[in-house]
Amino acid sequence: MAASARDFDSVQEASSLSVSQNPNLSTSPTASFQSAPSSHGGSAFGSRTIPLANTKHLKPFATEDIKVLLLENVNQTGRDILTKQGYQVEFLKSSLPEDQLIEKIRDVHVIGIRSKTKLSARILKEARNLIVIGCFCIGTNQVDLQYAAEHGIAVFNSPFSNSRSVAELVIAEIIVLARQLGDRSNEMHNGTWNKVSNKCWEIRGKTLGIIGYGHIGAQLSVLAEAMGMSVIFYDVVNLMALGTAQQVPTLEGLLSRADFVTCHVPELPETKNMIGQQQFEQMKTGSYLINASRGSVVDIPALIHAMRSGKIAGAALDVYPNEPAGNGDYFNSDLNTWGADLRSLKNLILTPHIGGSTEEAQRAIGVEVAEALVRYVNEGTTLGAVNLPEVALRSLTMDESNHARVVFIHQNVPGVLRKVNEILGDHNVDKQMTDSRGDVAYLMADISDVDNSTIKDLYERLESLGSRIMTRILY
Ligand SMILES: NC(=O)c1ccc[n+]([C@@H]2O[C@H](COP(=O)([O-])OP(=O)(O)OC[C@H]3O[C@@H](n4cnc5c(N)ncnc54)[C@H](O)[C@@H]3O)[C@@H](O)[C@H]2O)c1
Repeated sequence: MAASARDFDSVQEASSLSVSQNPNLSTSPTASFQSAPSSHGGSAFGSRTIPLANTKHLKPFATEDIKVLLLENVNQTGRDILTKQGYQVEFLKSSLPEDQLIEKIRDVHVIGIRSKTKLSARILKEARNLIVIGCFCIGTNQVDLQYAAEHGIAVFNSPFSNSRSVAELVIAEIIVLARQLGDRSNEMHNGTWNKVSNKCWEIRGKTLGIIGYGHIGAQLSVLAEAMGMSVIFYDVVNLMALGTAQQVPTLEGLLSRADFVTCHVPELPETKNMIGQQQFEQMKTGSYLINASRGSVVDIPALIHAMRSGKIAGAALDVYPNEPAGNGDYFNSDLNTWGADLRSLKNLILTPHIGGSTEEAQRAIGVEVAEALVRYVNEGTTLGAVNLPEVALRSLTMDESNHARVVFIHQNVPGVLRKVNEILGDHNVDKQMTDSRGDVAYLMADISDVDNSTIKDLYERLESLGSRIMTRILY
């Protein structure tokens, strides 16, 4: 960071507020519809960081007020957490054109975005004071992660806050497919009364095959069993089955037994077209397929063929190989060549990547990312960062009033630790942790017996090291 050592007495006391002082945030738009807490790490809406009463609140050295720019209508929960810290928060509902973004990013220490703001190297080059980026969403493709890491800018996101939302959508889709509800509803919208029971089923007693038993797959397993389904799952990792679910050793074994097959794997070379012609042939005749994972996982032309032949009785797709960047009438054959064929099929639910799109998920994302930002700014903790090594030290306590925390982000080259420890060596290093990820290493050390002038001296000596990417001292 290009910040020069300023008089740190001017750092506002307010910036030392703990993240734990977030209010207990209401999660519901109405008093009568209270949301359950998230499945992810306890209550998503209260604080997840429960500091001891004796925790010392740290202030950054050589940084004036922490300036935060929040774009793209980041959820109120996240805004509240950052504002409570005493940071200067500027909030904008939309993303910004590149020239305006460059103008604004020059000034801020923290930026919060969602998926529309592209933080390329060209833009990040202008961000002279930026220490951390919060992606208030799942993906981080919109950020040049490598450039950010090489310049000591941490990036956080919220990969699992919407797992429950996806699992609930899949449960709904299982019933909708089993009862052909999409078709019946379409017919009624067109004035047709078509009361049928042929090939409409209860889901009780049917077998659900879950491919990928991670955050979403495991949630779904519990919900499906509660609906009376038998659950089998296939995963590349051996996992503890929840309830009475059973792991099966092969994908083929799952496909040949399941009445409903649902995909919850990540996008990887191994999962590309994981469900294709051969897998459809292995599935039971009259079974159903659901994909709310990634668009590359299912071979859509093979699905179209399997549905036309009657092998597959219905399907639900929430994700596609090509998805439009914004809302509008873009789901056409220009986007995906098979678009018209897909739309013509019966008992096929098509949704626009809404699996994780709920108010609850947005709130949980707001809390999770804002808390990660506060922990990083106030304590230097990188747990959950997607582009830096994950490093944390236990908090300093009020009894350690003359202690300071040194954060030194540096190039991962030989000899740096020796030089850093020569500088820190005049003090007692109470605890230290360092880790590297690719070309970038992250060191944290708590040192004792420091006063204002020694902090300034330490800061300047660390800044002068050739391997330095960024120095931060919290005290
Ligand atoms: N539709 C949406 O809006 C939405 C929302 C959130 C997540 N997702 C997607 O859902 C998918 C699952 O998300 P998650 O949070 O449960 O992920 P996760 O990482 O928690 O779980 C993925 C599981 O898949 C397993 N896996 C990996 N490769 C496999 C393979 N080749 N065969 C079988 N299993 C394999 C992993 O071991 C892991 O258990 C991801 O692709 C994610 O991008 C979609």
